[in-house]
Amino acid sequence: MSDPGPTLAPSGSQPDPLSEAVLSCSGVRRSFPVGDRRLEILHGINLELRAGERLALMGTSGAGKTTLLNILGLLDRPTEGSVTVAGEDAWSLSPRRRANLRNEQIGFVFQFYYLLPELSALENAVLPAMIKLSRRAYRSSRKEFLDRATTMLTRFGLADRLRHRPSQLSGGEQQRIAIARALLLDPPILIADEPTGNLDRGTGEKVLEILLDEQSERGVALMLVTHDERLAKRCERVLYMEDGLIQADSSAPIPT
Ligand SMILES: Nc1ncnc2c1ncn2[C@@H]1O[C@H](COP(=O)(O)OP(=O)(O)O)[C@@H](O)[C@H]1O
Ligand SMILES: [Mg+2]
Repeated sequence: MSDPGPTLAPSGSQPDPLSEAVLSCSGVRRSFPVGDRRLEILHGINLELRAGERLALMGTSGAGKTTLLNILGLLDRPTEGSVTVAGEDAWSLSPRRRANLRNEQIGFVFQFYYLLPELSALENAVLPAMIKLSRRAYRSSRKEFLDRATTMLTRFGLADRLRHRPSQLSGGEQQRIAIARALLLDPPILIADEPTGNLDRGTGEKVLEILLDEQSERGVALMLVTHDERLAKRCERVLYMEDGLIQADSSAPIPT
């Protein structure tokens, strides 16, 4: 077997120094068919995201960060290896149970927002509740979720944008809606792939403050891809990725 890359959390008898893992992956490889060959992108990734921590993932463009995040967010299946979310081996579940696990446990913020164009800002933000609940259950708790989304969007400065469609909103506004959507069900895990990569600096900084404020207030574990060293300094751990492998962990345990 080839080197699976550094193991970031000690396995075996050693207790975890911080807290339990809410998300982890082991031996993750991903290749894509290109012509008659397969292009190997991830070469064996092991990592843990611990409850409530703020983890930055850095690395050059093309290193495989988005590929990894999509796998950790259960949006893509690894060619080999496993992903564990809230103690469940996600790819051993039925598609339906895996979709529920993802919806309840993981909020995902994409670089390009991915709001549904035909829905209003408020409707986009309550989408996870519509997906989670049966039609009947959603009808009876609709008001609670609309209130929750309205409160969040108001806190994010969008009180007078609730009925707008995504096409009527700026990039920064759309990303704030995407953050509200990601946090609607209060998931323990938040994954953000260059959430300000498509925004100008000033707008990006405001969006980041919202994201980081919510993260610390809720104690949600955040895994954030960024190219910004200053932002990485505000994270408890920084992982560096290169050519499909995690190269270094800023908080790797000192071998005893
Ligand atoms: N569906 C795909 N088919 C073929 N190659 C892909 C696919 N998705 C990503 N790649 C390749 O994988 C590499 C890593 O991409 P990505 O994970 O997006 O990197 P990063 O987010 O670190 O910039 C790139 O070389 C990209 O071209
Ligand atoms: Mg990327």
